[in-house]
Amino acid sequence: MSAKKLLIFNWKMAPDSLKEAISLFERTRTCADKTRNHAETIIAPPFVYLSNLSKVKSSLFGRSPVGRQKSKVALAAQNVFWEDSVAYTGEISASMLKDLGVEYAIIGHSERRKYLSAEGGFASGGNETDKMINKKILASLKAGLKVILCVGEPTQRGQTRTERGLTRNIKWAKNYVKNQLEKDLKNLIQNLKPKTQNLIIAYEPLWSIGTGHSDAPQDAAEMINFIKNILKAKTYNLKPKVLYGGSVNSKNIAKFLKHPEIDGALVGHASLKPKEVKAIIEIASKMC
Ligand code: PGA
Repeated sequence: MSAKKLLIFNWKMAPDSLKEAISLFERTRTCADKTRNHAETIIAPPFVYLSNLSKVKSSLFGRSPVGRQKSKVALAAQNVFWEDSVAYTGEISASMLKDLGVEYAIIGHSERRKYLSAEGGFASGGNETDKMINKKILASLKAGLKVILCVGEPTQRGQTRTERGLTRNIKWAKNYVKNQLEKDLKNLIQNLKPKTQNLIIAYEPLWSIGTGHSDAPQDAAEMINFIKNILKAKTYNLKPKVLYGGSVNSKNIAKFLKHPEIDGALVGHASLKPKEVKAIIEIASKMC
């Protein structure tokens, strides 16, 4: 039996109300807690729901049919700031998240990064640079949060224009991801304690996120192997879980998880649909 697969449900900027957030959380955690040999499950709601969901999680006012015991589901923030206090209006620190019982922070999601593609620059979401992402990672680890670092190339392989015309660009994609890892994980080792459990990598090719066009599972496995090899090498000496993300749903998740090197999935849009969530958890649990 292989190691447990890890599922991260990223709600992005949804749902619209606390009532809906509690209902979705309860349905997800009930399903995760009930499923035998369940896959590990992390839920990443918007900041504004974290406090309430943390209380639901410890069943202070939970209504889950599985009873009022502590849930095994963990909470993640979708972002975090690197400074610890005061004059940063609108930002949230790692210690604030820790205090709420949040265990993880997603850092460097493509919807927050500033991207430079082979064909020219384009920005997305929070306009975050690798330098900012590196600061966020170091501050989070120092505060005792676990980090889910998202990396991935912005342009679909096979669409890069070189001096020789359009080429299949797996090599370019690998270089892009290697470069991201090097910048994002700079000065990591002295801050990472204990070593592996505090860092998870999500490989999310930008072109597959929210598009309905997931990567070919074989290609995702190849990239994840590549990432693992980089992190296994002497500079890092790490063996973190590496997940795939990008248009994962109940129809395609098994094709990704059957690859032993893919340790789980980061699920976006499908995480807002309870039936999808149930199916995804059940499928992933069978593959543990
Ligand atoms: P998606 O999002 O599943 O909607 O493509 C993935 C993500 O949030 O990274």
